[in-house]
Amino acid sequence: MIDLAIPDKTHDEERQGEALMLEPVVGKNNGRKLYIESYGCAMNFSDSEIVASILQDSGFETTKDFNNADVVFINTCSIRENAEVRVRNRLKEFKAAKTSNPGMIVGVLGCMAERLKSKFLEEEKLVDVVVGPDAYRDLPNLIDTVDGGQKAVNVLLSREETYADINPVRLNTNGINAFVSIMRGCDNMCSFCVVPFTRGRERSREPLSIVKECTDLFNAGYREVTLLGQNVDSYKYKAESPEPEVLNQDVKTTTFANLLEMVAQISPELRVRFSTSHPKDILDDVLYTIAKYDNICNYIHLPVQSGNSRVLELMNRTYDREWYMERVDAIRRIIPDCAISTDIITGFCTETEEEHQETLSMMDYVQYDFAYMFMYSERPGTLAAKRYADDIPEEVKARRLKEVIAKQQHYSHVNTQREVGKVQRVLIEGFSKKSDKDYAGRSDKNAMVIFPVDERYKPGQYANVLVERCTTATLIGHIVD
Ligand code: 5AD
Ligand code: SF4
Repeated sequence: MIDLAIPDKTHDEERQGEALMLEPVVGKNNGRKLYIESYGCAMNFSDSEIVASILQDSGFETTKDFNNADVVFINTCSIRENAEVRVRNRLKEFKAAKTSNPGMIVGVLGCMAERLKSKFLEEEKLVDVVVGPDAYRDLPNLIDTVDGGQKAVNVLLSREETYADINPVRLNTNGINAFVSIMRGCDNMCSFCVVPFTRGRERSREPLSIVKECTDLFNAGYREVTLLGQNVDSYKYKAESPEPEVLNQDVKTTTFANLLEMVAQISPELRVRFSTSHPKDILDDVLYTIAKYDNICNYIHLPVQSGNSRVLELMNRTYDREWYMERVDAIRRIIPDCAISTDIITGFCTETEEEHQETLSMMDYVQYDFAYMFMYSERPGTLAAKRYADDIPEEVKARRLKEVIAKQQHYSHVNTQREVGKVQRVLIEGFSKKSDKDYAGRSDKNAMVIFPVDERYKPGQYANVLVERCTTATLIGHIVD
């Protein structure tokens, strides 16, 4: 989700659609134009880059104006109801555009595909093609089917597909930060979550293809990669025939800690981030690896969801309050200066006022640097939808959310203030949004840092910045040598 690697763009479906551009492969141009718009999490934006690559190989070029397009794709998110509502409204606009351009093919990709395929195709006749997240290789055939006058669907989920061999086309890129998908799907079955149903079983991508992609990015000038998965700590790849000298290890299995180390070793100038960690799976080996390498950023996204053990059990998170606190203690012990962010859901089924207070007290305990906060929204087909009544009134969910947001604003400010007076190593990403007299970049702990342009430094380089003051979310300073 994708001015890249900023916290609200790594794990949040609120991101609006963005048109993505690609150039055709020379000599293969089929004269047709593609428009892709993406919603949802970083994984979805990363998937759009895979789709772009597949269609570039069949000769498509892109347009930023869907009215000019021959093929219009919308890569969808299902995680909360409002995400689906936005996609639906957008599809109605595309349908309207089709009346003046009847040859236009409109397709739905991603998480909404499986559940809403018949609704979109047959009942509402909004689209011509529906493709699930594991079926993108089939897109050229599906487009042919539609060209032949039929509707086309492929929503099969796979146990193997990782698109390991596909070199994603970097879309809307600043040439500095990139997302690299390391695994797909999720086996966790958190009771509120639709992801295991929309994206299928968890599978890990072959590690050398990940290292190669990151090395190629580094050689092309990129300086930060964010390794993406629904639960990166459970990354596990069993090699059929191990290549110990390449993997730099004598075991057949590559863990997430091994993979982090392999990517960190590409170059000390390549920053490594990752998202998302699961509290039950983040073990000390990962923390020691982060501590060992300066270029693995001291920033962990560790969604707590609730601070109460009974609610966590109903959510099927498989850890309790004490376990989570112990993991936070371990982070503080092993990586003394580490930013932690979280996801929080308010008003989950049967949550009492006292249980909500425990979420607030967890926030006092951890003092999160950043949080994504949501009211519970029941999703069809999930365990919670089947087992529990969505019984907390909307106004109570909203009031609890307000309290959680107010507390987070307080701690965001406390945490940024702690950085004032310190020197930060900042990767310069470009000019600040407000002025081209200022550069903007991120600190190791993922804080946004703004400072006056110094001609000796260019985007893509690191600068040491002394922080003089801050707002709630931004550090402001100047370069020091
Ligand atoms: N309702 C509200 N929030 C949800 N999330 C996932 N499913 C739901 C839901 N049904 C939130 C969780 C998750 C983040 C990506 O979205 O906090 O970590
Ligand atoms: Fe959903 Fe839980 Fe998997 Fe995250 S870990 S994608 S919340 S099921």
